[in-house]
Amino acid sequence: MGSNLYKLQPPRRRHLLKRQRRTRWYFVWMAVLVLLLVAMITVLWPHTPKTTLPADEKYFFANSRYKGVASRFVVRENSFEKTSIEYPITKIASIDQFVEQEINLIDKEFREIAARGNRFNYRLTQTVSYQVSHHTDQYISIVVHVKQDTIGAHPLAINQFWTFDKKTGQPVTLLQLLNNSDEAMASAVTQAKHKAVEIAKKRQGVVESIGDAIVAERLMDFIVTQDGKVAFPFGPGAIIAHSYGEVMISFSPNELMKYLQHPLARQLLQLPDKEVKKPTSSPVSIPQTTGNICESKLCVALTFDDGPGVYTPQLLDILREANAKATFFVLGSKVAGGAAVLQRMQHEGHQVGNHTWSHPDLARLPADAVRSEMARTNEAIVQAIGNKPTTVRAPYGSINPAVLAEMGGLGLASVLWSVDTRDWADRNSDIVCQRAVGGAQAGAIILLHDIHKTSVDAVPCIIDGLRKHGYEMVTVATLLGVVQPGVNYYAR
Ligand code: NI
Repeated sequence: MGSNLYKLQPPRRRHLLKRQRRTRWYFVWMAVLVLLLVAMITVLWPHTPKTTLPADEKYFFANSRYKGVASRFVVRENSFEKTSIEYPITKIASIDQFVEQEINLIDKEFREIAARGNRFNYRLTQTVSYQVSHHTDQYISIVVHVKQDTIGAHPLAINQFWTFDKKTGQPVTLLQLLNNSDEAMASAVTQAKHKAVEIAKKRQGVVESIGDAIVAERLMDFIVTQDGKVAFPFGPGAIIAHSYGEVMISFSPNELMKYLQHPLARQLLQLPDKEVKKPTSSPVSIPQTTGNICESKLCVALTFDDGPGVYTPQLLDILREANAKATFFVLGSKVAGGAAVLQRMQHEGHQVGNHTWSHPDLARLPADAVRSEMARTNEAIVQAIGNKPTTVRAPYGSINPAVLAEMGGLGLASVLWSVDTRDWADRNSDIVCQRAVGGAQAGAIILLHDIHKTSVDAVPCIIDGLRKHGYEMVTVATLLGVVQPGVNYYAR
C-alpha cells in the first residue's frame, strides 16, 4: 500500500471500504491465478509428451539369422509404450519399403492407442518381428508377426505375410500362382474353408460360421514354407475366433497341382533352394577367412563386459583350467588400475575389446564425445598391452548410424550379442548358466559381466554345458574372422 493514501485523508469509512474492496479484488485475482495454474497443470501434465518423442527411439542394424537378410531394429521406451520393431532388409528397396509401410501402418495405430492408454497410467507393449520361410535367387517369403499388449483382454497378435518376386519387388498373388484361373482360385477358397473347419474341430471348437472370413481376397498373399507348401499363417482372430489361436492353412503342391503347371509355379514351388530353406546362422556380410576353425566346428564366443574387476583374475583361472577363450570388453576408466590383468588376458589367448571410457549411452552423445569415449579407451588399452583393439561394444547395446560411423573412424567394429544372460539383473549363477547354455547356437555371442561374482561362478557350469553340446569357446576375433570397422555384428 502506498504512503500517499495518508495524504489524501479520505473519510475513514470510505477508506475502510476501499481497503476491503481492494483486499477482495486481491483474493479474487489470486484465486483466478491459482485456478489457472491448476488448470494448466492438469491439462498439460498427462499430455506431455503428447506422442512418442524421437529421443525415445533408438535404432540399430544387425545381421539376421537368414542368409542375405539383415535387420533394422527400432526400439522405443517411454511412459506410454515399450516397443521393439525388427524390419527386414533384403537390400531390394521396393520389398523393404513395402514391408516397412505395412509395419508402420500397424505401428501408427498402436501409438495412438498407447497415447490414450497413458491417461490410465497403463504402459502398452508391442513387439514386431519377422521370419523368412523361403528364400531363393528369385523369391522371398516373409511373415511379419505383431504382438501388442493393449488394454484389451487378449494381447493382439497380427500376422502379415507375402511372397515377393525379387525382380519386380512386388508380392506374387495366389491368383498369379494359379495362372490367373478363377476356377482354380474358387477351388482354393473351398479347400481352405474345409481346412479351417478341420483345424477348428481338432481344437474342439464350434464349427458354425467358420470359413465365412475365407474369401479369395484373404488368400491372395501367401508364403512358401520351408517344406515347400503354399501357406497362409493367419494370426489369432484373423479368419476364425481369437480363441483358436494361430491358424496355419497350407496346401502341398499336390493339392493344387492341377493348376500349377506353368513356369511361375514350377519356379516358385518345385525348385526351392535347399541351401537356404532352413534359417542358418551364417553371416550376411562377414568375409570368410579360410582356415578359421569355426568353419568346421561349432563355435560360440563368451564375452565379459564392464571389467576388469575384482573377480576377473578368478575368471581367468577358470578359463585357463578349461582351456576356453573369451573376449573382455573393458572400461577405459578401469584399465589403468588393471593393466596386469589385461596383460594376462592377452598372454592367455583372450581378446580385449573397447567398452568406452565411462559407460555412457553413445546414441545420446554428440559425435565428439562418442569419439573421445572410445579413443581414450583405445589409448589406455594400447598402453596396457601394446595392441589396439579392433572391436567395441556399445554400452546398453545403444548404437545408431552416427555412432557406427565414429566407431568406423577409429577402426573399430561394433560387437553386440545374440544371447543375453541378463546376469546383472538376476545375480543367480544357475539361471545365468541356463540362459547362456540354453540360448547358445553355433555362432552365438554370449553376453556376461565379469564384475558380478554370480556371473563368474556360473562360468564352470556354462563351459561344461556348452562343451556337452559340442561347442568350442573362442574369441570374437576367431568367431567372426575379419571384421569391418563401422559394421555391427551380433553373431557369426
Ligand atoms: Ni556394460
